[in-house]
Amino acid sequence: MAKTVELIIDGKSHTFPVVEGSEKELAIDISDLRDKTGYITLDIGYKNTGATKSAITFLDGEQGILHYRGYAIEELAEKSTFLEVAYLLIFGELPTKAEYEKFTTDITKRTLVHEDIKKILDGFPSTSHPMGVLSSLFCAQTAFYPESLNPNRPPDGVYLSIIRSLGKMPTFAAWSYKNAIGHPVNYPDNKLDYCPRFLKMMFALPGQEYEVDPVVADALDKLFILHADHEQNCSTSTVRIVGSSKASIYSAISAGINALWGPLHGGANQEVIIMLENIRKDGGNIDKWIDKAKDKNDPFRLMGFGHRVYKNFDPRAKIIKKAADDVLKKLGVNDPILEIAKKLEEIALKDPYFVERKLYPNVDFYSGIIYRALGIPVDMFTVMFAMGRLPGWIAQWKELRDQGEPIGRPRQVYTGKTKRPFVPIDKR
Ligand code: SDX
Repeated sequence: MAKTVELIIDGKSHTFPVVEGSEKELAIDISDLRDKTGYITLDIGYKNTGATKSAITFLDGEQGILHYRGYAIEELAEKSTFLEVAYLLIFGELPTKAEYEKFTTDITKRTLVHEDIKKILDGFPSTSHPMGVLSSLFCAQTAFYPESLNPNRPPDGVYLSIIRSLGKMPTFAAWSYKNAIGHPVNYPDNKLDYCPRFLKMMFALPGQEYEVDPVVADALDKLFILHADHEQNCSTSTVRIVGSSKASIYSAISAGINALWGPLHGGANQEVIIMLENIRKDGGNIDKWIDKAKDKNDPFRLMGFGHRVYKNFDPRAKIIKKAADDVLKKLGVNDPILEIAKKLEEIALKDPYFVERKLYPNVDFYSGIIYRALGIPVDMFTVMFAMGRLPGWIAQWKELRDQGEPIGRPRQVYTGKTKRPFVPIDKR
């Protein structure tokens, strides 16, 4: 017998079905609530609202669990590669050797972008934040691949737009950086793998040899795995709602890039470094900054702390914290803000304000320290997050499309003026 719940409104009983997920999560299906009762629900920020059924990523915020298609993030971060995880998220299974070969080769063949993209890039002043450049260049693909505008694109066309997205994202990202520093762009060296190819496009200088440090490339690959998907977060929900209108994958992902840019979301990794630097410049007075974060009259928040879902340690933060030690040691980098970050975490996790609110370090708290050690400039941190999140956005866009979901259109409770007659301007 399917489980149901009963809602009694004005003495009348209404029954709604209960949906149980494969990990035993429970939801009340209120799809016909308004038709049955005339009521809608109100859940500002969607803290308690499921937008879809998805088989891609499972999070348990209380336990601090994160699985991609059933595989634990800890195992994938240690044993897999970013493109293998991308394949898993998008197509649902880990690839065979042959499938992986084909997938990576297909992506490598599509790293070059149309020369006219450079005309768009040249229009951006070097003061442009790379995230704004990235979202524009990514959306510009709709102009070069107008077939992507077809809402009923056949599967081979969808596959082509997927590998084009994965192939060109690193090129767009590296070019957005070169634009910011006024350097000529580098073209992708397709003899290299995904991360080494990106690093060479980022850091190679005209006429000079550039050797990719395997420690840096491996660390970046692991960071991309950790950022690859995170179920219905702000930017992914943005990709899904744009995708639900049957807009092109390129415009849906460009919208996701813009949502990720916000300092409360992916932009936090950049804000964490700025915060830690400010604490360092302030003489390392951590207690002062903790008090500021707790002060309701002070807009300052502890960046990299807290999470909408995790009310325990973000499992990604644990992995990144360990990786930070490893990478900095291997690179011989001694970054004083790593020690400040560890001390801040130690003090905060003992402070009742953070304990009561279950505020723990999230994925952004340590990632910036590694990016900095890898030589990635702080303005590019959120671009790194976008590169890592791309397979998740693609997977979620594809799932929405494959599930034939309707256009997303939430309701509201109107609180404005009730009907009133127009008053001509000379009578106001
Ligand atoms: C990401 O959703 C995802 O999955 C996102 C992400 C992903 O992979 O896609 O995990 C990536 O975006 C991680 C989060 C990065 N953002 C930050 O680090 C910015 C700092 N964090 C906060 O702004 C906040 O914690 C959020 C935005 C992350 C979550 O906000 P919520 O869920 O809306 O929580 P809230 O604002 O309702 O806070 C609850 C309480 C409040 O205090 P009270 O009003 O109850 O007294 O906790 C306080 C908040 O003031 N609080 C903080 C705090 N975060 C929450 N106080 C100080 N410092 C903080 N960081």
